[in-house]
Amino acid sequence: MSRHTPHAAVIAGLCLLGAGALAHAAPSGQTIGFTCLACHGDKGQGASGIPPLAGRSADALYGMLSEFKSGKRPGTVMNRHATGYSDEELRAVAEYFASQPAK
Ligand code: HEC
Repeated sequence: MSRHTPHAAVIAGLCLLGAGALAHAAPSGQTIGFTCLACHGDKGQGASGIPPLAGRSADALYGMLSEFKSGKRPGTVMNRHATGYSDEELRAVAEYFASQPAK
C-alpha cells in the first residue's frame, strides 16, 4: 500500500494543475480549502484556539489529515471533517495551505 503513496501524490498534483480545465472532475485544493477558513481563519492563518495551516509543510498537513480520517489522531471536529474527503482531496488541500503565506 505505501508503495502507491508517491503515485497518489503525483496524481493529486496533476489534478491541481488541471483544476482550471477540469473543474467538474474534482474540487481543487483551493475550493476545498475555502471550507476550512471559517474555523482556521483568513488564508488558514489560524484563529483563536484553532491552529494555523498556512505555510506549513504539505506532508505534515496531509499526515495530520490522514490521521484524523483514520481516527489515529484525536480531535473534536476534524475527525468528522476529514472523513468527507478522498486521500487525493486531502493531499490537494494540504498542498493548497502549504502554498499560502503564514502570518
Ligand atoms: C468546524 C471548524 C473547523 C473546520 C471547518 C475545519 N477545521 Fe481543522 N481544526 C479545527 C479544530 C477545532 C482543530 C483542533 C483539532 C480538533 O479539535 O479536531 C483543527 C485541527 C486541524 C489540523 C491539525 C493542526 C495541528 O497543528 O494540530 C489540520 C491539519 C486541520 N485542522 C486542517 C483542516 C482542513 C484542511 C480543513 C478544511 C478541509 C479544516 N481543518 C476545517 C476546526 C476546524
